[in-house]
Formats: sequence, structure tokens, C-alpha cells
Amino acid sequence: MSEPITIAVLAGTTRAKRESIKAAKYVADFGRQLPNVEIIYVDPIEFNFPGDGNDPEGKDPRYSEITERADAFFIVTPEYNHSFPGSLKRMLDSELQTYNHKPVALAGASNGNWGGVRAVESLVPAIRETGLVVLSWDVYFPRVQDLFDESGQLKSEHQDRYNLSLQKLYDELLWMARLFKQGRRDLAESNS
Ligand SMILES: Cc1cc2nc3c(=O)[nH]c(=O)nc-3n(C[C@H](O)[C@H](O)[C@H](O)COP(=O)(O)O)c2cc1C
Repeated sequence: MSEPITIAVLAGTTRAKRESIKAAKYVADFGRQLPNVEIIYVDPIEFNFPGDGNDPEGKDPRYSEITERADAFFIVTPEYNHSFPGSLKRMLDSELQTYNHKPVALAGASNGNWGGVRAVESLVPAIRETGLVVLSWDVYFPRVQDLFDESGQLKSEHQDRYNLSLQKLYDELLWMARLFKQGRRDLAESNS
């Protein structure tokens, strides 16, 4: 049996009418079906990060605990002015050590045809600095407002394509997460 892995799926925006939240929920639901995978879905609207930085007073203890527990991350970001939302940066900035030596998959979303590729590309250097290790491919949700039905389900005509892409991405993320988890244990042992 493969080692159990915990993945934190981070939604990227707190905007009231956000469409990318449907993509984030789909990514989380897909992960929940995988064997030996625990998904922790993080909606930034439910967390509180006062001020800036990662001093104790700038943290939300619930988010700190999630990042500590997580073996891997999956971030779903919309594109805002060719970048990613400030609320996502604020959330990511609130932690540091708990990201180190853990893999992260990225997904972009936008209401145009680019699917948030510029948000993802601008996110890469920021998360590289946190110690997270970025996968070399991503998944994109262009025209995200048209992909899901009223109840938030991915429309049937898009399912084959996205299920295939997500399976590939999760396979890679889980492979890295298991390698890194053992690597972190080995490192802790050699440092003890
Ligand atoms: C402040 C703001 C800036 C945006 N900038 C871009 C942009 O640069 N490129 C783009 O493709 N879409 C942009 N959009 C549109 C989003 O892609 C669109 O809202 C989409 O539904 C994903 O974001 P959402 O989850 O907030 O809905 C922007 C939206 C907002 C609210």
C-alpha cells in the first residue's frame, strides 16, 4: 500500500463573485477520489491574516497547522492584472518553514483564452523562494465562467480532457510528495 499523503488545495481569491473557486473545488474533489490521499481544501475567505509578513501576529494558526501537516500543495489561482491575487500572496507569505521540501502543483484560471498562464508564471518565482518545489507542468481553466454548470459541476463535454490532465498532474505530485516525505524523514534523522 502506498504511503498516505495529505495535500492542501489552496483557492486563490476572496472575491465575492469569484469564478475560479469552481475550478479549485473541482481540483479538490478530484483529489479526494484518489487512494491514500487526504485533501485539505483551503478557502482564503475563511482565514484571517492580519497585517503582513510571517511574524506570529501575522499568522492564522489554522493555516499554520494545515501547512505543517501537508505533504504537498495544489494552488488554483485566477489572473488579476497579469499576476495572482494579493490575498493569495498574503496567505502564502504568512508561513515559511512549513513549505520547505514539499512539492506544489499549479492551476490557472481566467475569463479569457489564456487561462491564467501569466498568474501562474508570476507565482513561480514567489513560491520558489518559500522552499516549495514547483512541478514542471500545470493545468489551465480558460473561460472558466463557461466550464461549470449552475451547481458548480464541470460540464460533461470538458470532463475527459480535465480528468486526464488532473490525473497526470496528481500522479506526478504524489510521486514527488512520497519521495520528499521520505527525504524529509531521512534529513531529520541525519540531523538528530
Ligand atoms: C482585479 C481583476 C483583474 C483581472 N485581471 C485579469 C487579467 O489580467 N487577465 C485575465 O485574463 N483576466 C483578468 N481578470 C478576470 C479574471 O480572469 C476573471 O474574473 C476570472 O473569472 C477568474 O477570477 P475570479 O475567480 O475572481 O472570478 C481580472 C479580474 C479582476 C477582478
